[in-house]
Amino acid sequence: MEKTLVLIKPDAFAAHHVGDIIKIYEEKGFRIAAMKMLKMDRRLASIHYAEHIGRPYYEDLSGFMTSGPIVAMVLMGDDVIHRVRELHGKTNPADAAEGTIRKLYATSGRRNAVHASDSPESAEREIHIFFNETEIYDE
Ligand code: PPS
Repeated sequence: MEKTLVLIKPDAFAAHHVGDIIKIYEEKGFRIAAMKMLKMDRRLASIHYAEHIGRPYYEDLSGFMTSGPIVAMVLMGDDVIHRVRELHGKTNPADAAEGTIRKLYATSGRRNAVHASDSPESAEREIHIFFNETEIYDE
């Protein structure tokens, strides 16, 4: 079964929406294969967001992602990469469709509640930034 990496970002954590967001994933039928809470540091942000280094928003993104605790998860299911991106909605909540997690819980293009891998290659890379094989239950 396909896997993807999800991060519940510091804004959603601070607003006590961790449980609400996990409930949505479970109600949609995705399985949790791994989960942990952590605080990113600048180095970890630079690894996870390597392709964005040098973009105009990178400092904002890195500063925000290191500003408080996050929850990292591996979700598993059929077509999970695409379906979770759809469920999250567009980057900016103003553009996100009704019922998406960003429409419900994001407050700006920076404080946008959740991250998800955008391709099988990204998922493979990102999952192993946050989890080793012994932490992933995918049977
Ligand atoms: S792209 O070009 O499609 O990759 O861009 P996008 O997916 O929209 O954004 C990439 C990630 O950068 C975050 N982002 C920002 N963070 C802080 N401030 C600003 N202004 C900003 N603009 C974009 C955006 O939330 C994406 O993060 P992730 O964690 O991948 O959702």
